[in-house]
Amino acid sequence: MPDTKKTIKNKPFPRRLSVAPMLDWTDRHFRFLARQISRHALLYTEMVNAGAVVYGDADRFLLKNDCENPVALQLGGSDPALLAQAAAKAAAYGYDEINLNCGCPSPRVQKGAFGACLMNEVPLVADCLNAMQDAAPGCDITVKHRIGVDRQTEYHTLADFVGTLAGKTTCTTYIVHARNAWLDGLSPKENREVPPLKYDYVYRLKHEFPALEIILNGGVKTNAEAAAHLEYVDGVMIGRECYHNPMIMRDWDRLFYGDTHDPADYAELAGRLKDYAAAQLASGRGSILRHITRHCLGLMHGLNGARQWRRMLSEAELLKDNDPALILRAWEEVEKANASNPPSRPD
Ligand SMILES: Cc1cc2nc3c(=O)[nH]c(=O)nc-3n(C[C@H](O)[C@H](O)[C@H](O)COP(=O)(O)O)c2cc1C
Repeated sequence: MPDTKKTIKNKPFPRRLSVAPMLDWTDRHFRFLARQISRHALLYTEMVNAGAVVYGDADRFLLKNDCENPVALQLGGSDPALLAQAAAKAAAYGYDEINLNCGCPSPRVQKGAFGACLMNEVPLVADCLNAMQDAAPGCDITVKHRIGVDRQTEYHTLADFVGTLAGKTTCTTYIVHARNAWLDGLSPKENREVPPLKYDYVYRLKHEFPALEIILNGGVKTNAEAAAHLEYVDGVMIGRECYHNPMIMRDWDRLFYGDTHDPADYAELAGRLKDYAAAQLASGRGSILRHITRHCLGLMHGLNGARQWRRMLSEAELLKDNDPALILRAWEEVEKANASNPPSRPD
């Protein structure tokens, strides 16, 4: 039986499986859907620039659904004072964890001197983490990073980064995207595919720093793979597969958290999405139906009728009325396509 009772600051905080931060993808609407499928997984927001939180419309960047917890806000930035202010605001909005991005390779982020290039600025990262922790004492402060940047391909770069931070800060959780970031010449998308995955570096990190919580990320596509990694590390973070095939999460509570409740079936999920969409449209916060349905296109992945579901929920002509019942009509198409073999229960 896995250790499912990890606690952070005396709160139960299951970080065994998490959904990765993904810009434009893991907004509060996607996180709502993810939470309907797994009660326990930790959910991450998209990366939010600390300056935007402090000087911009904080509600726009920080509002979340109450049902989302446990949920972590990921911040981008490299100014300790600004990150501290952003962390204090995030704590007030009810985030459980605040994560500092030290892994994003995009040119825009490099220009702001944060993201992956912070792996070359360890003392500054320590200052940032300490400032965030002081400003948000009730939140867990964590880092997400790569195994190195550019041609630093040796394990010791990773060990030095983590070891130094562990010595200079109270940060005990390190989320490691098991690839280098190549800051020159690769797009962010290529940076998620081209540099080779080195899971053995992440396993070794856990072995050499057993007191730290080490979370492995990158290229995990199945629950069997996640279970295999969990033999060596404390947690697994999954990004793209969760987005394109959210039902991968339906077995997580049973497999990884020892919770035997029946997960919601497809029909229940469609109904909850419709109710959620209706509430969001009525809330006056400017949501339109497409903002919600665009994150649900992968929900029927692998079922007959998945194509009709995607088509109906992305077609401008059908979406323009902003009628949440469209979600149920799309579900009826899937049901019809599976009439002889109803997809109501998970395997
Ligand atoms: C569309 C997209 C946006 C992403 N945005 C972020 C981000 O805001 N912050 C971050 O740390 N990583 C970001 N990532 C990287 C993911 O968090 C993750 O590290 C990466 O996709 C590898 O995990 P996976 O193979 O399970 O997808 C993004 C990935 C994708 C596909």
